[in-house]
Amino acid sequence: MTKPYKAAVIGTGSALPEKRLTNKHLESMVETSDEWIIKRTGIKERRILEDDVPLSVLAAEASRKAIADAGLTPMDIDLIIATTITPDYLSPSLACCVQKEIEAKNAAAFDMNAACTGFVYALQVAQGLITSGTYNYILIIAAEALSRVTDFTDRNTCVLFGDGAGAVVLGKAEEGIASVILGAMGESGSVLTIPCCYFSPEDAEKRNEGKKQVIWMDGSEVFTFASKIMCEASLKVLENSGLTVNDISYIFPHQANIRILQNAAKRLDVPMDKVYTNLENTGNISSASIPVCLDEASRKNLLKKGDKIVMVAFGGGLTYGAALLTWSK
Ligand code: UT7
Repeated sequence: MTKPYKAAVIGTGSALPEKRLTNKHLESMVETSDEWIIKRTGIKERRILEDDVPLSVLAAEASRKAIADAGLTPMDIDLIIATTITPDYLSPSLACCVQKEIEAKNAAAFDMNAACTGFVYALQVAQGLITSGTYNYILIIAAEALSRVTDFTDRNTCVLFGDGAGAVVLGKAEEGIASVILGAMGESGSVLTIPCCYFSPEDAEKRNEGKKQVIWMDGSEVFTFASKIMCEASLKVLENSGLTVNDISYIFPHQANIRILQNAAKRLDVPMDKVYTNLENTGNISSASIPVCLDEASRKNLLKKGDKIVMVAFGGGLTYGAALLTWSK
């Protein structure tokens, strides 16, 4: 392509585990109720990866679908970026495990961790590598097995999270990613933590006895941050392209809590029918949530060529980001 080009989403795919964990199941595990969970979060069920299945298998399934949807084969992929906070191994990376599974032998591969904002961060990195002419086709695979780092005796967190994988293939097109904004607030990182190779006395204090590598979260702090930043980041990314919310067909937000999405929609003054949601059936699947939504919407033919969409996320770090994309499939 000699004309100026953009990095565009040319294929999408997703995979959710079969096993469902309903609010009713959770009622028998912690002191909670179906009514409380639905009213405070909007979640009815989440998917759980079976113990004997590596995340890379689920990630590979989503990746194969995205590559086929792009009309490519795994050998066409130049780079795999995996976003995850729950890789099977710290080394080899999830991206390398997926490369092996799908036999994408020509691809370089690495993992990125920006928690729930990981997919938006990866879009920015991939966009740079495509528009600079470094690579032609990049696979972003966002995959999470949050059930493996959830304390199922902590009702503050165990009702929220689930497992799943979403993938996109980026290639070149006349229209595509118009703008991305990213941000981080490391000074507030302690409100949402998952220890890995280091475990401080403060980390121990916050968790139930005997629990180490599990999520701890100050839910209301994250809630306040999220409601504000989702709106600000969306407005900023639109402003960068001289657009307003009236120009967009859909917002694909990180699926954390329906009340956060309603707050953000209200601040942005957009109707909820422009805000894509699936958290009712998936829970919060961290960085995988936006690409899973995108794949669902694409397969339901909700998106038309030329539609402008905003993807916006926030998460551990704390991190946040938004991307404006013109749909070009
Ligand atoms: O991906 C990014 C990461 N996470 C998020 O985005 C999550 C952001 N935060 C949230 O979604 C919400 O803050 C939660 C869903 C976590 C909590 O909802 P809330 O309306 O902010 O509740 P709260 O923390 O203010 O707690 C209200 C009450 C408390 O009881 P007391 O102290 O008033 O007696 C909690 O102990 O609700 C209690 N509670 C529960 N009750 C039944 C907390 N979790 C549960 C539960 N079932 N699962």
